[in-house]
Formats: sequence, structure tokens, C-alpha cells
Amino acid sequence: MTTQHTIEISAPADDEELRAFRGMADYAFSENPPSTPDIARVRRQGVENLRVARVRGVVAAGLGMLPMGQWFGGKSVPMVGINAVATAPEYRSTGIMSRMLRQMLEEAHAGGSPLSALYPATQPVYRRVGYEQAGINIEYKHPLHALGTGDRSLEVRRAGDEDTATLHDIYAERARRTAGNLDRSEYMWARILEPREAQLNIYLVERDGTPEGYVIYTQGQAPGAKEKDINCRDLVALTADAARRVVAFFTDHRSTAENLVWTGAPAEPLLLHVPNQAYKVGWYEQWMLRIVDVPAALAARGYPAGLEAEVHLDVRDDVLEPNNGRWVLTVAEGRAEVRQGGTGAIAVDVRGLAPMYTGYLSPLDLRTAGYVDGPEIDLTRAATVFAGPTPWMADGF
Ligand SMILES: CC(C)(COP(=O)(O)OP(=O)(O)OC[C@H]1O[C@@H](n2cnc3c(N)ncnc32)[C@H](O)[C@@H]1OP(=O)(O)O)[C@@H](O)C(=O)NCCC(=O)NCCS
Repeated sequence: MTTQHTIEISAPADDEELRAFRGMADYAFSENPPSTPDIARVRRQGVENLRVARVRGVVAAGLGMLPMGQWFGGKSVPMVGINAVATAPEYRSTGIMSRMLRQMLEEAHAGGSPLSALYPATQPVYRRVGYEQAGINIEYKHPLHALGTGDRSLEVRRAGDEDTATLHDIYAERARRTAGNLDRSEYMWARILEPREAQLNIYLVERDGTPEGYVIYTQGQAPGAKEKDINCRDLVALTADAARRVVAFFTDHRSTAENLVWTGAPAEPLLLHVPNQAYKVGWYEQWMLRIVDVPAALAARGYPAGLEAEVHLDVRDDVLEPNNGRWVLTVAEGRAEVRQGGTGAIAVDVRGLAPMYTGYLSPLDLRTAGYVDGPEIDLTRAATVFAGPTPWMADGF
């Protein structure tokens, strides 16, 4: 049995520990775990962003950190994504990962990341340290023959390497308008643009040479499937005309492929431009968020323009002590100021604050769920302050 004294946590010290890190992640997540761990990919994440836990000098668990940002209310808030969370099977349920997560959160707090997000394969271990469901990742699969005709008034142009900055700009504009879309790091962009084994296709949608959208996709059959699908790694349409051009572009593939597969918003604007509800949801998953630094997170996001309001919170956090206590959030002109004190009218565990912060659940729903307590008038005001588009992410990690 492990104890606090026998666990040591830090970045992998050498290639052997990197292989142990990658080997544990392969064991847990790879469909066909390879005999030799490929450490090139984990190196690209940056060894300083990886952590291993050693029990009596032996690597027993690991996790990765992905520094980036997330858009809320038109502002990008620094966020550290967590990936490759795995404990070797012989060490599971001895408290190692709980310990690693706590240490990582303390580091993130000290390092100026007010948010942390992850995709959970299991939730209890994350809930225990303050993460909660806070947004959606949804994949649509739409038969090409039922997509409709769209419209071809905009031009489609195959993109080259010189268009990378343009892709970034178009994506950033879409992300700014959402809640929850990533402010992608170089590492996250590389995952989208790296060739891998399938032919990668990138097309820009333009009006008189000015881009209004893009698609990045491969074509292929899922294992065991007969149908060939168009698998979008990214699909962005900033205007209605661009959305209709994207529809037409993919409809023009209907004789050689079966389905268009893309990750979009829970209330997906592209679906307003297709005639039928013929899609299936191929994947639906909630990501979890942890408010790492309460005052910094509240001050960093944007708020509805034209709204002036005050929200009084009383936050409880069993893991990160500085978050505890009463906070006043004052919102005006789309911005917020945060100070200590106030009435603490809304009592909230830091876990309940995550879905409130992203707008995934209203404070009234969170009261029903037992996460929040307070007078209806305060909860209703907070609902207005945190209201916005349903939070979602196009990326997995
Ligand atoms: C999930 C996992 C990372 C937890 O690590 P751990 O070191 O065992 O965690 P802890 O000992 O701190 O325990 C935390 C909780 O995880 C639970 N847990 C252990 N193994 C688990 C498993 N395979 N699946 C789901 N939960 C598991 C434990 O039961 C414990 O909860 P409990 O005490 O209420 O029973 C580890 O089980 C693992 O590597 N699983 C496979 C990979 C995976 O699912 N990773 C998560 C990706 S998001």
C-alpha cells in the first residue's frame, strides 16, 4: 500500500521514464497497445508538461498538461487541459491519481491558469478534486445524399501552407463567438494539421478573395464499416453563405462517399441550411471544468454587453484553500471586477461553480441538483450574468 511518503511526483527524468509514461497511456487508451512505446509524440507535448508519480522509484502513474485557453463571453481565459491520465493497473485505487491531480491543481494555481478542463473516462476521481461537467463535445454524422443543394455563390479554394495564419484567424473568430471553444495552442493546431496516414484536405471558402470559412478533412472507412465517410477535423463557417457553400461542397461528394462527419455546436447553425434532420449523433460527451483560481477566472471572462449586475458568492473549495470565502462579482460593459467580501448570498461548492461559469447549467438548475443554494432573486440574476451560447468544444484531447 502506498503512503504519502513513498510517492514522488515530477516531470519524467529521462527516456526510460518517458517510455514508462507512454506505455501506461498506451495500455489504458490504445486500441492496439504497441510493444514499444513511441515517445516522439509525448515529447512534442513538452516533457515539462508531463508528470509521473514514482512509488519507491518506479513509475506508477502519469498525466499530461496542455496549456492553452478557452473562450467565454468573447474573451480567451488561460486554461490547462489534462490528458493521458493513467495509473498502472497494479497501483490503481491506492490514491495515486488523486494525489497527482491535487498537486497539478496547486501548480496550475501558482502558474496562473485560472481554469483546467479534461475529457473524463470516469468522473469520480475528478469530481473529488473539484471538476464538474461544464460543456459538450458532439459529433454529427449526416448522409451526403440528404444534405441538400446548399449554394455555390462563394468560391472554394484548396489551401496551402501559406494559408495557415488565415485558418487560425477564421477559427479564432468562430471561437470568440462561442462559449468553451479552445484558444488552440501550437500543439493543438498541429494535431489538426498533421498529415498522419490519410490524405489531408484543406479548403477555404471565400468571397472575392476574403475567407469566410474552411473545412479540414480526411476520407475513409471506419474499421469494419462498408461506408466511406468524410471526416472533418475542423469545419468553420462564419456566414450563412459560407455554411451554404460548405453544404454544396460536400453534397458534391455524394456519389463517392456516404456521410459527412463533423464536430459542431449542440445547437448547430449548419443544420439550419440542410433540408432534413437525417443526421445521427455519432458521439456525445460532456467535458469537465475546474475553476482553479476563482477571482482570476471570474475576472478574465467576458460578460453580456449592456448588463450591469452584482453577484455575491460564498465559495467552498476543499482542495485549493485561496478560493474559499466570499466574493463579489461586479459586471458592467461586458467586463467584471472581483473583490473579496459581500453577502455571500449564493453558496456554491467550487465544483458547482464550473457549470455555472460556462453557462452549461443555470444556477436554478444547479440548485435543483443540490450544487448551489441561495435566494431565487440572486440565482436568477446570476443566471443572466453567466448566460450565453451552450458551451462546446470542437477538439478532443
Ligand atoms: C482512473 C484512474 C486514472 C484512477 O487512478 P487511481 O490512481 O486508481 O486513482 P485513486 O486511487 O486516486 O482513486 C480514485 C478513484 O478511481 C477509481 N478507479 C480506480 N480504477 C478505476 C477504473 N479502472 N475505472 C474507473 N474508476 C477507477 C477508484 O475506485 C477510486 O474511487 P473509489 O476510491 O471511490 O473507489 C485509473 O484507474 C486508470 O488509470 N484507469 C484507466 C485509465 C483511465 O480511465 N484514465 C482516465 C482517463 S480520463
